[in-house]
Amino acid sequence: MTPIYSLRQVVKSRLAEGAGFRLVVPKIDILPREHVALVGHSGCGKSTLLDLLALVLHPDEAERFEMRADAESDPLDVQELWRRKQQNRLSLLRKQHIGYVLQQGGLLPYLTVRENIELPRQLLGLPEDDTVKSISRVMGIHRQLDKLPGLLSAGERQRVAFARALAHRPKILLADEPTASLDPITARKIMAVVMELVKGLDITLIIASHDWAHVYKMDLRSLHQEAEVVDGGKVYQSTFHD
Ligand SMILES: Nc1ncnc2c1ncn2[C@@H]1O[C@H](COP(=O)(O)OP(=O)(O)OP(=O)(O)O)[C@@H](O)[C@H]1O
Ligand SMILES: [Mg+2]
Repeated sequence: MTPIYSLRQVVKSRLAEGAGFRLVVPKIDILPREHVALVGHSGCGKSTLLDLLALVLHPDEAERFEMRADAESDPLDVQELWRRKQQNRLSLLRKQHIGYVLQQGGLLPYLTVRENIELPRQLLGLPEDDTVKSISRVMGIHRQLDKLPGLLSAGERQRVAFARALAHRPKILLADEPTASLDPITARKIMAVVMELVKGLDITLIIASHDWAHVYKMDLRSLHQEAEVVDGGKVYQSTFHD
């Protein structure tokens, strides 16, 4: 089966005063409908890798960085699009095919819950249909649609963030520690609903978490991560691989 993501020798460095960071991906292949976890301690590069997969960050180097919109599409050469500075194309690919749940939800505070969920569909010019209603019901937030995000509980906000990430029906869902700020019971309940949806809609899920036990219980394939200090102590290098 052709992977949804296929990465070879991908490198991304982040420079900071006296303490550089380098993410290295020798090889990762993620198949359609796989559920994958990026597990590792704080600062090991989980968000950096998710941003690369979300086409938000430009890799410094990549022997191969390919992505497919879904199981039926041809692979796209993402690295070539970055190299040719095709930002608009990358932005459209991201909007059309990827749902991204940020660590803190990332909801717009001045829009209602309904408007937040509708926004990705509007940006794509998708027709109004019952998607917002049905996804809100599944996520258990249908009674909160007219509220502003500031009036929701932390758990409700993360449910809305998932609804928004899925409203345009992407086949790829990226989630960055989506339940880290919640109590374990609420976290488990939300992830159970998300996993049902992801399985039912044939979505490929990639989720970052520092919580091994949680990932283990969710039955996700975890990528291996290891770290070393290189370049004479100046660079903290973190490697993720299959
Ligand atoms: N915009 C940036 N500019 C420079 N360095 C950055 C930037 N963002 C992150 N870093 C550095 O890159 C490294 C990896 O950060 P990243 O956010 O990917 O880690 P993480 O695994 O997601 O951590 P956490 O679990 O705390 O969210 C860290 O050393 C961080 O300080
Ligand atoms: Mg992070």
